[in-house]
Amino acid sequence: MTTRIPRRSLLEGLLAVGAVGCATREVATPATPATAATAATPATAATAAGNQSQPPADEWQRVRGEFDVSPAWNHMSSFLLASHPRPVREAIEAMRKQLDENPPLALHTHEDPTPVREAAAAYMGVRAEEIALTDSTTMGLATLYLGLPLKAGDEILTTAHDHYVTHESLRFAAERTGAKVRKIALYERGSAATAEGMTEAIAKALTPATRVVAVTWVHSSSGVKTPVRAMAEVVARANQGRAPKARILLCVDGVHGFGVEDVTMADLGCDFFAAGCHKWIFGPRGTGVLWGKAELWPMLRPTIPHFGQEGHKAWIQGQPAPPTNASMMTPGGFHSFEHRWALPAAFAFHKGIGKAKVAARIHALNRQCKEGLKAMKHVTLHTPLEDAISAGIICFEVAGMTPEALMWKLIERKIIATTSPYATSYVRVAPSLLNSEADVEAVLREVRALA
Ligand SMILES: Cc1ncc(COP(=O)(O)O)c(C=O)c1O
Repeated sequence: MTTRIPRRSLLEGLLAVGAVGCATREVATPATPATAATAATPATAATAAGNQSQPPADEWQRVRGEFDVSPAWNHMSSFLLASHPRPVREAIEAMRKQLDENPPLALHTHEDPTPVREAAAAYMGVRAEEIALTDSTTMGLATLYLGLPLKAGDEILTTAHDHYVTHESLRFAAERTGAKVRKIALYERGSAATAEGMTEAIAKALTPATRVVAVTWVHSSSGVKTPVRAMAEVVARANQGRAPKARILLCVDGVHGFGVEDVTMADLGCDFFAAGCHKWIFGPRGTGVLWGKAELWPMLRPTIPHFGQEGHKAWIQGQPAPPTNASMMTPGGFHSFEHRWALPAAFAFHKGIGKAKVAARIHALNRQCKEGLKAMKHVTLHTPLEDAISAGIICFEVAGMTPEALMWKLIERKIIATTSPYATSYVRVAPSLLNSEADVEAVLREVRALA
């Protein structure tokens, strides 16, 4: 698993994204000019995609204009790592200046994380005290799963579709506690997944030993969006009559729905939710959140000492540590604070557009892309068409081509596609706020040409 950051000089002509991170490789100069990553939005396309709640086309052009992405490329993988939109860049720069001018004073001014937690909480529809700040989805999941009070005989139920970081965090937790991890399939083929089938699979797999259900909201392996709400109801039913210590917790890797869907944590109904803010939220790179219901935090055991008041005060006074809360689950140490402190600008960016409009826009572009791909005989689409069980990631195959070869073919045509970093790998495109209908059309044109 390599993570190589492309040098700037390479960016103009070559880029590939694969594995868990990025890999670069040189490709021949494309024979055709760049696709219309910055082309004007066709006035008709949004309506053609069937969405009435879209703002005027020029508003989406304005949104795209906030990003500094290279116009030489059709950016179809912005879900991997965010390009910072202008307000986020400006907020980072303002914080960086303060840190460079006087680091201790900047720390003193901004060390209270309340504004950051409040901004995230408002976006998620929760209370600020229920949020721990992290650097990534990975950090949030590891902090959570390694902090759970598991023991030998307990069972963690997870699925075959989750990301490496969920599976590995669970493995680490199991090795330390003696709990067992059980993996089930929620569907055989992503394109044939159903909300009922996925919910039933969870319901059937619960046992008296189950303590944790660890799922992913949107699978980056297939583009399938899981019915978290329905799963929460199944878990709630199973919890009826269970003693508090035997209660099942529903824990979610939410990163690929966060910044896409117009929902709150109450809508999802889960117990814990981890997400990076450097993907669909377009927050500063190296930021993330871990949310949990207020009453559940005391059961967790921190792994990394936090830098807030609670634990430190007890340590100074030689007192026992107070019960864990979300603040104490925020890993301490100094961070890239200019990024963390600038995070509210990203939530404000989403709020400025409107969560419902963001969701409608991403779904409309994805629908356009999936319908186009589905109509091609040489393409196998692995992501469901229905909005209810898909979001912003599309996985597909082209007959006779390996995912790698297809990805490179698209990159040669100036389309940033990725391959999914899983044992069974597909090519992915992810139309987002950075894209226009013309960008989607350009993808379809290039894939069509591969017939
Ligand atoms: C489903 C899923 N979870 C977690 C991650 C890791 O996210 P982060 O970079 O925020 O740790 C990824 C991919 O990057 C992913 O696809």
